[in-house]
Amino acid sequence: MALTITAADAVEILDSRARPTLWVTLTLADGSMVETGVPAGASTGGGEAVELRDHDPQRFGGQGVLGAVAAVRGEIAELLVGRTWPSQAEVDDALCALDGTDDKHRLGANAIVGVSMAAARGFAHQAGLPLYRSLATLPLLDGVAPRIPVPHFNVVNGGAHAQNALAFQEFMIAPVGAPSIAEAVRAGAEVYAALRARLHAAGMPTGLGDEGGFAPDLTEPEDACALLVDAIESAGYRPGPDGVMLAMDPAANGFHDAQGYSVGGRRLSSSEMVDRYQGMVERFPIRLLEDGVAEDDDAGWRELTARLGGRIELVGDDNFTTNPAVIRQGIADGIANAALIKVNQIGTVTQTLEALAVCRQGGYGAFVSHRSGETPDDFIADLAVASGCGQLKTGAPARGERVAKYNRLVLISHRDPQIPYGLTR
Ligand code: PGA
Ligand code: ZN
Repeated sequence: MALTITAADAVEILDSRARPTLWVTLTLADGSMVETGVPAGASTGGGEAVELRDHDPQRFGGQGVLGAVAAVRGEIAELLVGRTWPSQAEVDDALCALDGTDDKHRLGANAIVGVSMAAARGFAHQAGLPLYRSLATLPLLDGVAPRIPVPHFNVVNGGAHAQNALAFQEFMIAPVGAPSIAEAVRAGAEVYAALRARLHAAGMPTGLGDEGGFAPDLTEPEDACALLVDAIESAGYRPGPDGVMLAMDPAANGFHDAQGYSVGGRRLSSSEMVDRYQGMVERFPIRLLEDGVAEDDDAGWRELTARLGGRIELVGDDNFTTNPAVIRQGIADGIANAALIKVNQIGTVTQTLEALAVCRQGGYGAFVSHRSGETPDDFIADLAVASGCGQLKTGAPARGERVAKYNRLVLISHRDPQIPYGLTR
C-alpha cells in the first residue's frame, strides 16, 4: 500500500548516554504521525555509515545534531512530501540518491536512518499491521518465517562502555533453553539480580556501564565468565544449551594496536588471542563470540574462524558494518560465520534487509543489535522478529531504553503466540 507523507520533522533529543540524537516524525495523509528515535554507537567500525554531528564545541562538546535535524526538515522533507511512495525500497533508494555519498555523510546517516525507520512504521500503519508483520511482507524477507529471538542480555560491561579495567566490552547471558520469551526475560532478570548480589557480597561496586550491565573492576575475562556461571547457577538455572549460555563481544578493536592485543596487562599476538578464546570456549558454555579480533586483523579472523568456526557462532560487527557487499566478501573469504545487524551502521531499512538476505543466502547467522546510545524506540525488536534470525542483543535486562526492546518481544509473543521462540541453529 503506497505511502503519502505530508510532513517530515525532527528534533534534537538525548540518547541514553546524555548525547544528542534525533527523534524523527513523519505525518501521513490521514493525519497520523509515525515516529522513531535514532541510535548511536561508541565502538564504531571503520566502514560504518557516518552520522552528521555539528562539531560546535559550544554545544554538547561538539556532539550536537542540529545539522542532521535541518537535513530532515529541509532537503529530506522536500524530497518526501507531496509524492506517493510505492515501497520502502523506493523511499530508501531516494534517500541514498539525495545524499549522494557512499557513507551518507552529507545529510547524515543519523538523519537518513531515522526517516527510513519512520517510513517503515508509516507503511505498517497504512497496512493496519504491527511493524514486524509489515516488515515480513517485504520482498527481501520473502519466505522467511517470523521468530521470537533469544535475548542476549549484556550483564557485564567493559571496554569503551565502562570505566573499569576489563578490556572486553560485553559479557552476555542467553537463555537458549527457555520455553518462551517470557521465561527467557525472567531468567535474564533473575540472573542479573543474582549477579548483583554476588558482586555486592564480594565487596565489588554494582555501578552500571552504558548498556546497563555491571562494570566490576575485574581484569581477566575468564573471571567475568566464572562470575556469570556462578550467577546462573545461584539463580537456579543450568549453564548450558538446556539453560543459559554465555556470549561475548570483546570488541577487539578497542584493545588492539600494532603490538597486538592487551588483555589484563598482558600482550597477546592474534594466535595467542585465539588460544585464549579456545581456552574459554572449552571451560565455559560460550555459544557466540563477536569481534574476537580487530577489524583489520585478517589473519586473526582467518585463524579464529578456522579454529572455532565449527563450534560457536563467530559474529563480525566492526569488520562487516551491516554492509551487504562487505558481508558477501566475508562469506567468500570464509571470515566469521555470522554478521551483526545494526540498522544505523548501514543507514536504511532496505540495506539492512539486504544484509540479512546475504547472511541467509550464504548460510551465515545474523545477530540483530542495538547501539550503546539508545532511545526508548523498540524498532529492532520487530526487525529481529520479522528477520527470523533467532538472536537479538539489546543490553541488560535493566534501564528503560534496553528493556523497551525485550518488553516489546514479550508483547509480540503475547499477541501472536504461534510465533516460535528460539535459535535457528
Ligand atoms: P556500540 O557497541 O554501539 O558502542 O558500537 C555495540 C557493539 O560493539 O556491538
Ligand atoms: Zn560489537
